[in-house]
Amino acid sequence: MDRSTESNPEEASIAPFVHIRGGGVSVVADTSGGVPAIIHWGRDLGDIELASVADALALPVPFGALDMVAPLTIVPCHGDGFAGPPGIKVHRNDGTSWAPRFTAMSVRHPDSTTLVATAADVVAELELTTTVGLDRHGALTVSSTLRNTGEGELWVDALDLALPVSRDAAEIVSFGGRWGLEFQSSRREWSGGSSISETLLGRTSHESPPLVMVGTSGFGEWSGEVWMAHLAWSGNHRVGAVRLPDGRRYLTGGDLLHPGEVCLAAGESFTTPPLIGSFSPNGIGTASRRYHRLVRSMAHRAENPRLRPVSLNTWEAVYFDHDGGKLRSLADRAAAVGVERFILDDGWFGARRNDQAGLGDWTVSPDAHPDGLDPLIQHVTGLGMSFGIWVEPEMINEDSDLFRAHPDWTLETPGYPSVRGRGQLVLDLARPEAFDHVLTQLDALLEDHEVEYVKWDHNRPLVQGSDASSRAGARRQTLALYGLIDELRARHPGVEFETCSGGGGRIDLGILGRTERVWVSDCNDALDRQVIQRGTSLLLPPEVMGCHIGPPTAHTTGRTHPLSFRAATAMFGHLGIEWNLLDCSDRELDDLASVVELHKRHRELLHTGDVVRFDPSDDAGMAGGVYSADRSEALVSYARMSSGASLTPPPLRLPGLDADALYRVTHVAFPSETWGMASSHPAWPAAGITLSGAQLSGHGLQLPTLLPERAFVIHLLAG
Ligand code: GLA
Repeated sequence: MDRSTESNPEEASIAPFVHIRGGGVSVVADTSGGVPAIIHWGRDLGDIELASVADALALPVPFGALDMVAPLTIVPCHGDGFAGPPGIKVHRNDGTSWAPRFTAMSVRHPDSTTLVATAADVVAELELTTTVGLDRHGALTVSSTLRNTGEGELWVDALDLALPVSRDAAEIVSFGGRWGLEFQSSRREWSGGSSISETLLGRTSHESPPLVMVGTSGFGEWSGEVWMAHLAWSGNHRVGAVRLPDGRRYLTGGDLLHPGEVCLAAGESFTTPPLIGSFSPNGIGTASRRYHRLVRSMAHRAENPRLRPVSLNTWEAVYFDHDGGKLRSLADRAAAVGVERFILDDGWFGARRNDQAGLGDWTVSPDAHPDGLDPLIQHVTGLGMSFGIWVEPEMINEDSDLFRAHPDWTLETPGYPSVRGRGQLVLDLARPEAFDHVLTQLDALLEDHEVEYVKWDHNRPLVQGSDASSRAGARRQTLALYGLIDELRARHPGVEFETCSGGGGRIDLGILGRTERVWVSDCNDALDRQVIQRGTSLLLPPEVMGCHIGPPTAHTTGRTHPLSFRAATAMFGHLGIEWNLLDCSDRELDDLASVVELHKRHRELLHTGDVVRFDPSDDAGMAGGVYSADRSEALVSYARMSSGASLTPPPLRLPGLDADALYRVTHVAFPSETWGMASSHPAWPAAGITLSGAQLSGHGLQLPTLLPERAFVIHLLAG
């Protein structure tokens, strides 16, 4: 880190610039106002004279405006004259302290790539500490803590963070979705105005994943400058991009608070979730891989880098039919096709014979499992697989022992009719007794059984979620959730966790800090999955993305696909199976076994390599894959998403390989794979072909004609 002063307030007012560098990225911050203002977040600047950056970028004061230019600080303040939406909105009971303006107190550098700046407002009696950190891969993380230094209560309505981007950012990609179709993206020009997405549904949400991306005109996977921002938070949030009237632009994100949700007593503080930015000078891929490296470096993953076991999840196979004989037969078949982890989904506990009862009672149902779970677990482990189990700890059914004993433990607003989702209510986890109840039962479940994996679900949005004090409780609920998983992890360090929320309703780096895997979507339709997984892969590396081979006809869409397409799609994640194998023919089981074997052969590459996506070169294709870090090996898929205007796909061009290396390219054949109708196909798939990286990037490789909703996979190995 370069800095033009030592960390002391007097000197800070002279030339308070800080330059942090990492992963080919430079961040220059001006700390003179106390709340750091990022004046450059982009390409590495090398060794520079810091004051010159500020001089070079100082804005003129035009007519018609205030006599100074309000800084675009990480927490923009109306009190500074900031013309955009304020990052901080607070007030006291008498309405005062509503327009804070901070001055610098101290600047610290706990390490060479972290800056901690503390600012104070002595009038409003506030202290704001902002942390800026750049990891060695270039991911930029900012967060702020607001402390009430006054005597009276302080109501916090918003504390949003801002990451400035270049004025050249001309296009914006925002993300949305729904249950069964997560991480859909839409792109538009960003000529003016703001694009904000918000959710108050109490979870990360299917509808508004907390991710936004902007870039220079026409930016793609391999070209253009790109800035992304992601809020690492599993609750209500606001994320977006703002263009100020003077042309300055920034990405923003924060915890979206309900009225009255946060009130700080004297001395108390409020900390934002981290807003994580990722810049790339050369397209989306580089920006996206910074997030992947961050996820991979998270302590629980880095310290325990296990091969991701091929899983079988029982949900779509048996739903609530927990017949012991059937489950054991399913396990037999799972083991026979190469499955390594068997996960017992919903239906094993309390009165859970359907989805209207039982949530809240996390004890084994004697109706479903008269001899307990041990016989099944022993059967599963005896077959060489580990055992996982489904829970939904934040929920409660009225038809449960827990509700009958404690009807007041729900997260709802008294005086109104209950709002149910999937027939269930939400348990107020921030209530210590409720937290303890769930902790005790789950702890016992993990203590008493040989469970290696917990699929943690959350199947309904929060509405009118008031806690015991009748105030909005969504934020406290999210924090309690984190606390509960953290405590269980501490007590059971060998157990892995999956985040699921009706599929991909809780995918964010807050929950990923305490889980090993996400259930990407309840949709196992390979066609939709291609798009869902491509969107999810912007944020997540393949090994945390749960991708299952479903039955031939997808339960959520009714669409039918051959195993070759289903497998080639699920292959590029943490592979699982969600199919009633008891319905399968011997041929299907053999084919499935060969697909599992294929995945295992490439698993190390898939789960440690660099994710690459290719810009569409025709109207029907979607291509992407994984390159090994040293570019000596790659696995790439081209999926034909529709019939397309041309029967012939364009040559598949693979940028980013080692231009001088010679690659042996082979076709990875999937069982029963068929291509499109043609009088002749290219000859190379039969025996492979050797091409240089420059050729693969320059002229590419012609693929055969393909039917719609089919994929073609190739493997590349440098000679
Ligand atoms: C959610 C999950 C599914 C399954 C069911 C069980 O919908 O996304 O995978 O676990 O709950 O009720």
